Order: sequence, then structure tokens, then C-alpha cells
Amino acid sequence: MAKFFDEIKKQFPIFKGTEWKDLVYLDSAASSQSPDCVINAVSDYYSTTHSNVHRGVHSLSQKATQIYESARQKVQQFINAKYAHEIIFTRGTTESINLIADTFAKKYLQPNDEILLSQMEHHSNIVPWQMAAQRTGAKLKIIPINENGELLMEDFRNLFSQNTKIVAITHISNVLGTINPVKELIAFAHQQNVPVLIDGAQGIKSQNIDVQELDCDFYCFSGHKMYAPTGIGILYGKEKHLEALPPYQGGGDMIERVSFEKTTFNALPFKFEAGTPNIGGAVGLSAAIDFINDCGVENLIEHELQLLDYATNRLHEIEGIRIIGNAAQKAGVISFLLAQHHPADVGTLLNMMNIAVRTGHHCAQPLMDRLQIKGTVRASFGVYNSKEDIDKLVIALCKVKQMLS
Ligand SMILES: Cc1ncc(COP(=O)(O)O)c(C=O)c1O
Repeated sequence: MAKFFDEIKKQFPIFKGTEWKDLVYLDSAASSQSPDCVINAVSDYYSTTHSNVHRGVHSLSQKATQIYESARQKVQQFINAKYAHEIIFTRGTTESINLIADTFAKKYLQPNDEILLSQMEHHSNIVPWQMAAQRTGAKLKIIPINENGELLMEDFRNLFSQNTKIVAITHISNVLGTINPVKELIAFAHQQNVPVLIDGAQGIKSQNIDVQELDCDFYCFSGHKMYAPTGIGILYGKEKHLEALPPYQGGGDMIERVSFEKTTFNALPFKFEAGTPNIGGAVGLSAAIDFINDCGVENLIEHELQLLDYATNRLHEIEGIRIIGNAAQKAGVISFLLAQHHPADVGTLLNMMNIAVRTGHHCAQPLMDRLQIKGTVRASFGVYNSKEDIDKLVIALCKVKQMLS
């Protein structure tokens, strides 16, 4: 298996150039690197097929439309959505969540209605709901976590009331690595007739996603965390919800007929895609899905888990390491503190030794408050990482410890 992944790493041009050849890249939870096939697909698109989509009678526009719509079908198959029109292209997870928070609030939220979020959410799955709550008089209710970084399921169930209108929860925590039992959460919420939005920013590359099996109402993710370019993401929504929600932004492509008196809106998915979309991004996302499928989703999951296990054991060998997040079910994200040292100091020194990690609050300040820490050092894994990368991290951390004491 290690050889298989060594070969895969060769497909990533960033590690082939002289500048980053020896870089140990442990920041894939923020943004993963892209393989040749993705970069080439985007480049080919601009060299051979680029034109605006949907409105053109000319052949180049039709070709661009065909490639854009086949990217949508690729995503549909990848997450097993029932219909292609349940796949909305967005700029990323953040925009997908904003789209739902905004339109859901307009359609359904009233004063004193309740939105359930968890203590481990990324700001992207807090602030849009907070803004929706401020506009409508609705309230946020927060599902607490235990010391290991797992949701308290009993508390989750007890938080439901007649006023609960939606649950919005992350699939995998970008700080703790916790894999939440989303299927169970969704089943319970549905028994109370409450829809569930899953923030899949971290889930999409670390799990085999089948939205019909999960039965989630919405699933949001970003291309740039799954080997695709930035600026492209997905909102999956069940047809019945997307049909019922009002449009998010107004503009070209999302309309059926416009007059100064009245506008009628286009069918799904175009109702939610105002303006010229990121066609090149969709092409890149489609190529990234091919790449993931070629590697084998199960192989990627297994590889990440092996790295997580190895890293957890090796980090524990360093005296003074405190791992933040010890859930029974974890993905390839590992947060830690090195003795009393500030995460930014640790990260800066690691960078001087050619190791890229992320430090800080990771856009999860309420979680930091709950844990009573300012931030963490976070290592996260991608398809190009190996046990040797973790060995290098451990050696470097031992040096950092000496330098800072
Ligand atoms: C759990 C989670 N949700 C949401 C986001 C936001 O993703 P994006 O910045 O791609 O919109 C991130 C990004 O790190 C994340 O980890």
C-alpha cells in the first residue's frame, strides 16, 4: 500500500518542482494539493472548450455547456444523489451554507424558532445561522461535546422542542477530527420532522458519501479540500426542499422570464445559480472525482486512518504533547499542544524545518472557548502523505521543544 501511495504522490506537481520538493505538507484539511490530471483538465478546458454556458447557439458554447453539465452528473454519481438537479454549484462550503441559511430563514423562520448547531462547528456553519437568527428572531441552540470531543447524544435529543426548525452539523470536525454519527442524528431529527444540513467540508474526502443512504436534507462541500481547485463547491439538497426554497441571488441564468413588473424563476438547479458559473472549477472538480475514484475511496480512507493511528502513537512518545480530540471515531486530522508553547511559535519553527501545519483557532472560536484554549497545532493528511512525513514531524517537534525551553 505504501508503494501505491508513493506512486500517487508523483502525480502532484507541487512536490516535483525544486521549491517544495522536500516539503512535508500536513495542511490538507485547509486545502489539499491538486494532481496533474486536475490541473491539466482545467488547462485543457481553457485551451480547447472555454465559452459561456447555457445561452449559446454556437458549438463552442454548447460544448462548454455539455462539459459543465456532465461535471454535475459526475458529482451526482459521486455522492449518489437521486437527481442531477439536486446538485448546485457554489463557490464552496461557506456559500452553500449561506445559501440555505438565507433562503430557509426567508421561507420558514419565525421569532423563537430554534436552530440546532454543535459546539464543534466551523464559523461557516455558525455565522450564517446567527445572521439568519438575528434577522428573524430565531435562536441558536448548541449541542455540547464531552472531553474527548464527541457530541453528547442525550443532550442532542433533549434540545429538540416544538420550535426546532433545522439542525446544521458538521460531518467531521476540522479541529478534533471527530466523525459525528450523522446517520443517527439525521434519523432522530426526521422523527421530529426536522431537516438536517450536513457541513461536509471535511467529510467529503474522508468518507464514502451516499446522500440517499444518509438521508440528509442538505450536504455542503468544497472542491479545494478534495484535490480540486478553489472557488468551486457543492450544495446538495433534496429536490423537495430546493423546489420549496426561494432563490438566493438574482441575475442571469436563474430566471425564466423577466419584466419590470415581475420575474419568474428557472427550474432547478439553475434557480440557485445566478450569473456565469465557475465552469473551469466544475471541470477541475469532475477531474478530482475521477482521481479519487481511480485511487479508490476505500483505499483513501484506509490510508488516512493508518496515518492517523501512526501519528497518534508517535506524537504520544513526545513528553508534554497533549492531543486535543480523542473521539473513538476520528478522521485524518490531529490537533495538539506542545507543552505550554504557543501554537504559532511551534508552527513557525516547524515551517523553518520544512513542515507545513496549521495553527490557531481554525475558524472554531466557540470550540476553543469550550476547550479553554487559544488554539492548537493541527496536522492533517492527504493522499500524498506517508509515515515518513510523520516521523519528520516528530523529529522536528523534539527539536522545537528544545529550542523553546
Ligand atoms: C468543517 C468546515 N466547514 C466549513 C469550512 C469552510 O470551507 P470553505 O472555506 O471552503 O468554504 C471548512 C474549511 O476549513 C471546514 O473545515
